[in-house]
Amino acid sequence: MNGQSLDAYNIFDLREIARRRLPKGIFEFVDRGTEDEVALRNNRAAFERIRLKPRTLVDVSGRGQGITLFGRQHQMPIGIAPTGTAGLMWYQGEIELARAAAAAGIPFTLATGSMTAMETVAEQAGGTLWFQLYMWPDRSLSHKLVERAKAAGYQALVVTVDGAVSGNREYNLRNGFTIPFSFTPRNMSDVLAHPRWLLGVLSRYLVTTGMPRYENYPSELRARITARPMGRSMLKNDSLNWDDLRALRKMWPHTLIVKGILHPQDALLAADCGADGVIVSNHGGRNLDSSMAPIEVLPEVVDAAGKRLTVIVDSGFRRGSDVVKALALGAKSVLIGRPTLYGTAAGGEAGATRAIDIFREEIDRVLALIGCRSLAELDRDCLALPEAMSGPVPGGARTGFKLLEGTRVAAEH
Ligand SMILES: Cc1cc2nc3c(=O)[nH]c(=O)nc-3n(C[C@H](O)[C@H](O)[C@H](O)COP(=O)(O)O)c2cc1C
Repeated sequence: MNGQSLDAYNIFDLREIARRRLPKGIFEFVDRGTEDEVALRNNRAAFERIRLKPRTLVDVSGRGQGITLFGRQHQMPIGIAPTGTAGLMWYQGEIELARAAAAAGIPFTLATGSMTAMETVAEQAGGTLWFQLYMWPDRSLSHKLVERAKAAGYQALVVTVDGAVSGNREYNLRNGFTIPFSFTPRNMSDVLAHPRWLLGVLSRYLVTTGMPRYENYPSELRARITARPMGRSMLKNDSLNWDDLRALRKMWPHTLIVKGILHPQDALLAADCGADGVIVSNHGGRNLDSSMAPIEVLPEVVDAAGKRLTVIVDSGFRRGSDVVKALALGAKSVLIGRPTLYGTAAGGEAGATRAIDIFREEIDRVLALIGCRSLAELDRDCLALPEAMSGPVPGGARTGFKLLEGTRVAAEH
């Protein structure tokens, strides 16, 4: 399939194709947020409050969007966020998505909860591969995953820290979808009403490896798992703390990234623990409802991080202009979650490629229209920020630096 043939002019078109192809329970698992979806809506609304301030009569011919991230060159300032269910969008969707990323010259992050084993993705996709880690209460099982990721050649470990407990996603319970996948009275008619998915995705698993399940899980855990509503797995770990990060730093010799930071002090603590980068994220509005939009807190995190950390951001990016705004605020790169899942659901690798192409074309157009030849020229002067995001905060306490020393000491003991 050719991604161009998908009749998708923007990410919202791809979303619509995905909505039609996937069973409702799976589409909602991908698309929706948590509780009242305040954070989900605000992730988008926050971009609308930031305006672009273009310069004109600049020769913008020959512009480019290459970046260097953790010492490696990439073709675009975006990467693929970890999403456990790419493998339910398409048969072995993780491989399709990772191949699209490799061809576009951008990083791909494989989630702990993926349906394809990390070794298989590494063998079949190539490119820059990062591995996202959730920690189980039995840390030794997670540490085994870290060893596997090292052996399989993953270049960065992305430790997700914004899921102390599961988000409250009531629609998953209503829809009755579980992982490992199982037929339930609630989802049966939904699946049967989507024969293309039933034949093209589920049946292909059934005749090869069986019901889609978490292929990265160690056998000790797999044996103990019974089907649970999607997103309510046994992964959640409310005892995770900074000592765990320090322990991972000792084990992992490559790039270490902490995902799910929404406070500048936490970014600094991550740096103290030896992290190379942070991902400012509210998990796409899927975990804590009413959490700030990452783009709103991004300038504070960038200012706090200085040169100590590479700052990446995700949640709600749907347009090239969103990406440009984040880069102008100081992010080095942006991760994309749902858009490339919609693309994968619409057409496997070709659909994922279409999503990436849409971002490339839109970023390029915005750069030209605001008078920028390269991403290095982007800065806050390109933006008109809403009051809450600009200027010093009363008392100079916007980043809470004064509290920092105390926090550091407390965290170390
Ligand atoms: C279906 C789905 C599954 C996800 N699974 C994971 C996961 O396993 N680990 C993780 O760190 N983040 C996960 N995320 C969050 C993404 O990594 C990312 O933070 C988020 O999708 C970004 O927002 P966006 O979808 O609006 O781009 C998931 C997101 C979605 C939509």
